[in-house]
Amino acid sequence: MQNHEITKVLVSEDEIKQIVRRLGEEITAHYGQLERELMVVGLLRGSFIFMADLVRQINTPLVVDFMTLSSYGDGTVSSGDVKVVMDLDSSIEDRDVLLVEDIVDTGRTFSKVIRMMGNRNPRSLKVCTFLNKPDARIADVRIDFCGVDIPNEFAVGYGLDYAQGYRNLPYVGVLKAD
Ligand code: PRP
Repeated sequence: MQNHEITKVLVSEDEIKQIVRRLGEEITAHYGQLERELMVVGLLRGSFIFMADLVRQINTPLVVDFMTLSSYGDGTVSSGDVKVVMDLDSSIEDRDVLLVEDIVDTGRTFSKVIRMMGNRNPRSLKVCTFLNKPDARIADVRIDFCGVDIPNEFAVGYGLDYAQGYRNLPYVGVLKAD
């Protein structure tokens, strides 16, 4: 359903462009020239738009893979129950891996995935998120590349959904409460 009102813009289209460009520069500078391509892993579904923009701003040879997780169901409050719906296609063993998220909210999703990925013996493992909600944090996660901090409000757009809607908004906004 996509018929709720957006009450406020949290991150505009122009700000998104600047943030993604800056993250691409930081990531490019960090990795430099690797022996094997960087493996960029997007967590679906929320990261698909950010991931598409981000990889085009990284000036290092890379490959992409995706994993589908689910933590919220169709509600607006994190359930804490993180499920792997679809695993990666490729092995990350001995690879330089960059995990990409649209948002770190409670941190439960990232902390679980970081643990899971760490057990697969990557050469290195770094994490990047477009949005960060520090006030909602429950699980401790180290974020290596962070787009922007936002307040503890329910954000939609630029890949983030409410009941699967609003992902196509070109900016990040806040939905009017019911
Ligand atoms: C959202 C978001 C992150 C996670 C963040 O995913 O994409 O993966 O929640 O929340 P957390 O830090 O509290 O764990 P969601 O489960 O809604 O699925 P989606 O990616 O399909 O939107």
